[in-house]
Amino acid sequence: MKIKEILQSKGSEQKIHVKGWVRTRRGSKHVTFISLNDGSSINSIQVVAESNNFDEALVKQITTGSCISVSGKLVASKGSGQTVEILANSIKILGNAEAENYPLQPKKHSLEFLRENAHLRFRTNTFSAVFRLRHALTFAVHKFFNDKGFFNLHTPIITGADAEGAGEIFQVTNLDLENLPKKVDGKIDFSEDFFGSKTNLTVSGQLEAELGALGLGQVYTFGPTFRAENSNTSRHLSEFWMIEPEVAFADLNENMDLAEEFLKYCIQYCIENNAEDLQFLDGRMEEEESKLKKEERSEMGLLERLQFVIENNFERLTYREAIDVLRNSKPNKKKKFQYPINGFGDDLQSEHERYLVEKKYKKPVIITDYPKGIKAFYMRMNEDNETVRAMDILFPTIGEIIGGSQREERLDKLQARMEELNVCQKELWWYLETRKFGTCTHSGFGLGFERLIMFVTGMKNIRDVIPFPRTPQNAEF
Ligand code: 4AD
Ligand code: MG
Repeated sequence: MKIKEILQSKGSEQKIHVKGWVRTRRGSKHVTFISLNDGSSINSIQVVAESNNFDEALVKQITTGSCISVSGKLVASKGSGQTVEILANSIKILGNAEAENYPLQPKKHSLEFLRENAHLRFRTNTFSAVFRLRHALTFAVHKFFNDKGFFNLHTPIITGADAEGAGEIFQVTNLDLENLPKKVDGKIDFSEDFFGSKTNLTVSGQLEAELGALGLGQVYTFGPTFRAENSNTSRHLSEFWMIEPEVAFADLNENMDLAEEFLKYCIQYCIENNAEDLQFLDGRMEEEESKLKKEERSEMGLLERLQFVIENNFERLTYREAIDVLRNSKPNKKKKFQYPINGFGDDLQSEHERYLVEKKYKKPVIITDYPKGIKAFYMRMNEDNETVRAMDILFPTIGEIIGGSQREERLDKLQARMEELNVCQKELWWYLETRKFGTCTHSGFGLGFERLIMFVTGMKNIRDVIPFPRTPQNAEF
């Protein structure tokens, strides 16, 4: 039986068989108490082993981290802290844990230390809660879109396209790097490469999702995404997961409505289905924050913040409005921003995003209609010819969580933008053809999955919400 189920039953002396990993063992001459966890729940079950039933040598081996199998009966607990416990009549050691060498001792370890021990961190309360929530959110994403009649589309991981045009790509090749085939002009001959052309890991499934939407109506991708940005921050991964819905006939307003509803749904799903994990993480965050200076602490606890986001409309404003607010803000006037805001065209840095969300509006903010110069080629041009129908959703403590837009569906306008930005039209012939044949208004967005998990779990470093983070200089495990 899984411990989660056991903890929900009454202790009426029924026979129980359970396997798991020992969190702690304590006891006296007469009795040993083992706290056992199998990952099914944040809560562990107490196993009681009376000394006259067990060999001392066996009990000695039941150290923190060892894996055991227990048979016994479930009884109402005499102690406080749990309602039921297992009175053991047999215990088998499945794998012992070299007590002196096991890295996870029953004390608080730093997140950095646990990152170095990513192979074992699933056995801690914090990380088991985080990864159960990661699962719940995955499930919520699929449920949300399935219930709305979207189709999940698997877009390619290896591609020739650089959808975002930022050039932050990981190349994929099986050419011999020591002995590259060259053309007469000295350049590398990619016709001899595995796919007969230059390929890379995808930075976004959007362009292919658009093709799907312009036939299936509404689709979404949910896959790994790779970016060779050399930014070692607490919000960037080199390999992260992105959810990208794409909807035919939807304009930017409908796109924003969908994104807002989607985020709220996912958070609500966790509140309803993972209450114990969230409660644990709420307590954890409170403890962490109590170590901070008062002005660095968040105004709300984790659960309170989640509830707040569900219950309030996101603030929607245009980029021009945001720039005005920022230009006239106290920190800008007092030159407190690292990047001062001068006017139209300035890119918003995370300090600006956090000011808007955390200080000014105190709730999620959607900024629309950015200058074309700081956005990708595929976004729909506005009448002013200066701004595009983009939208970014900014979240407290996270900054940008979603980026999206209404797409440029007019062939001539799209081609003009591609020309201006040096995007190769020949390579994207298939993308352009959808504008030639039955084009229509359509929109979509990308949600950074790990950033959503950070928000829901209160974890402050993105490396702590993905099982095995890939970041510059690090691809261990
Ligand atoms: O804003 P981005 O670059 O948008 C796109 O890729 C579009 N093609 C999406 C679309 O319209 N279909 O990325 C979308 C989101 C960001 O808002 C952020 O949450 C996340 O992906 N993201 C990252 N998350 C972790 N590590 C990184 N290096 C990330 N880069 C972007
Ligand atoms: Mg973006």
